[in-house]
Amino acid sequence: MAGKNIYLIGFMGAGKTTVGKELAKKTGYVFIDLDEYIVEKTGETIPAIFEKHGEEEFRRLEKVSLAELTESGCIIATGGGIVESKESVSMMKEKGFTVYLESPFTTLYERIKEDTNRPLTAQGAAALSARFNRRLPLYEQAEYTIHTEKLGVDEIVEMICRRYEG
Ligand code: S3P
Repeated sequence: MAGKNIYLIGFMGAGKTTVGKELAKKTGYVFIDLDEYIVEKTGETIPAIFEKHGEEEFRRLEKVSLAELTESGCIIATGGGIVESKESVSMMKEKGFTVYLESPFTTLYERIKEDTNRPLTAQGAAALSARFNRRLPLYEQAEYTIHTEKLGVDEIVEMICRRYEG
């Protein structure tokens, strides 16, 4: 493999962390979950950051943290909102290969609706759906889009490897 980072993007519940871990096993690359990185760096949970400092501060932390990951040869599972920062999108394009794990909103919502570790879910289906639609064109700028709904994790990993190597 070429050594470029692989960035996994997509809405909450898209399977970025699950796919990222398996992809790291398969490639021997280091796996980094951006949300985990932020939690370790700040010593606060994601809900606590949103509650105490607000979404804007979380977005700032997200952008700064992504920029700190300067190593190459990493699989990076980003948070669903990373595409809201233009700088982050160009950084990912520049430093690596960006893969969008696509699923329809209804499927994603079923997976995340009761997850209290994802503070935005408290806003309800309509607000989340609007957010999803707003982000869609940004996700679609990825170099590679995979419609994951009917695929198993192994198949997704296989597809990413093939495309990355090719
Ligand atoms: C968010 C997605 C979350 C996390 C935070 C905000 C978003 O990550 O970064 O709760 O704005 O879509 P996951 O996509 O890993 O759930």
